Amino acid sequence: MQVRLSHDAPLDVRAGALVVPFFSDAPLEGVAADVDSALGGVLADAVSSGETRGRLGEHVLAYAKNAPYRRVLAVGLGERAKFEPYFLARYAGTAVRHLGRRNVEEIAVALPAQARGDEGKCASFVAEGAITGAFDTTLYQEKPELRMATQTVTILSHGFEASELACGMARGTILGEAVNLARRLAITPANDMTPTRLAEEAERAAHDAGLEIEVLDEARARQERMGSFLSVAAGSAQPPKFIVLRYNGDPSSSELIALVGKGITFDTGGISIKPAEHMEDMKYDMSGGAGVIAALGAIGKLKPKVNVVGLVPATENMPGGKATKPGDIVAAMNGKTIEVINTDAEGRLILADALCYANKLGATKIVDAATLTGACVIALGHASSAAITNNEAFVERFLSAAKPTGERYWQMPYYDDYTTQMKSDIADLKNTGGRPAGTLTAAAFLKEFVGETPWVHLDIAGTAYLDSESAWQAKGPTGTPVRAFVSLVESLARSDKDGKAQGNGARGGELAVEAS
Ligand code: BES
Ligand code: MN
Ligand code: ZN
Repeated sequence: MQVRLSHDAPLDVRAGALVVPFFSDAPLEGVAADVDSALGGVLADAVSSGETRGRLGEHVLAYAKNAPYRRVLAVGLGERAKFEPYFLARYAGTAVRHLGRRNVEEIAVALPAQARGDEGKCASFVAEGAITGAFDTTLYQEKPELRMATQTVTILSHGFEASELACGMARGTILGEAVNLARRLAITPANDMTPTRLAEEAERAAHDAGLEIEVLDEARARQERMGSFLSVAAGSAQPPKFIVLRYNGDPSSSELIALVGKGITFDTGGISIKPAEHMEDMKYDMSGGAGVIAALGAIGKLKPKVNVVGLVPATENMPGGKATKPGDIVAAMNGKTIEVINTDAEGRLILADALCYANKLGATKIVDAATLTGACVIALGHASSAAITNNEAFVERFLSAAKPTGERYWQMPYYDDYTTQMKSDIADLKNTGGRPAGTLTAAAFLKEFVGETPWVHLDIAGTAYLDSESAWQAKGPTGTPVRAFVSLVESLARSDKDGKAQGNGARGGELAVEAS
């Protein structure tokens, strides 16, 4: 799918549908009002009759037989005073999902007045949402019933700063495609998305974005003394891969941001095997790793002035004759020994070595993302990821970069009580701390491998995939944490000397990409 700009007058645009926004608590304005009068008031009728309440993603379709645009889809943006630019991703996503499944190939999208003065950001969200709305979940169906037909989405620039729109649109296109890449890697079943295949996908992403890549095989991982990572791979017939992607955007700087993602391509639980119900969802246990690969790809294309390394320890977690057993003791790269109480607490075992490796490479900031604990789903449901840190200033920086993207992160505490819970009688640490505060004891475990480097841990167990669809998003993988990762890296690249966050950019001149 292609996203483009058009300077045509909105009512003259040639398309299968014209998409216009409206607020739940305000009369139709701008293009929506103009098209409504051209059609004799049908939209105003639909709104006043209560057919739609105008909540975000609610929509009404009207036909415009003799108009060049043939149909009008009015999409709600909710209450006017509560408008956030990221709603425009959901607005465009709703339009593409509704119309794309009804065989509409060309869609023209009008912007709300709120986009004036904020064109770059708003066009970025429209492009991102249009592309993510078109995500195809039918890859394995011989004759998909619901094929996404939309080929082009045209943003109407009439009355807006076109150069800013073009710049934002280019960024949003890159971001939307990255989000969809992460989703495709995650939704692909584990028999196809093995650690080897994930490494091949990383190689392709690196090639497309001009990144350096190195994939450590089992022998190399052993040389690096990644005993904790390899203990998880022991039961699998699939060889493990430790993926390292590098983007060098500021060679003059010694700053290095490490993005680390859990890459369990399937989590059976190992010898501490999981129950059968919903075990199929454990193909998504590499969502953090997919997010790292996709975010690095986007960063390579956006070219912010900053250095980033992406680390993805990838393996299956399987039972088998060579599998790690409860009670086994393994040693991580930093020499700390771990008593494996429960082989299903494997994410922290592979991340332990990845965090050590980030430090070995000279990381000055680390963010990891992992579908790490069921306890996180109990605590926050599917509404938010959890964020845990060893550095308040850095987590604030992360949260303020993530917030405008629409991905939600909620900070949870670290107390040394949680570290106490992870002490083993026989080794330095054990890999489970019992039921209380399962998300936070997991974070406390990881903290032992981070050292003094400012670090944020993201538990995305409840947000990486959803088993219900919304108006703007198919069910299944969401692409979390790609948006937050990219926004954080852009924010750090823009940082001034006092290190204050400056929000989620995409304004003209800040981007190295050109509109396609
Ligand atoms: N991948 C799971 C966590 C998970 C659960 C993600 C549900 C998404 C949905 C992780 O490897 C796991 O099994 N964690 C255990 C840890 C426990 C044994 C300490 C859990 O949460 O039960
Ligand atoms: Mn597990
Ligand atoms: Zn897992």
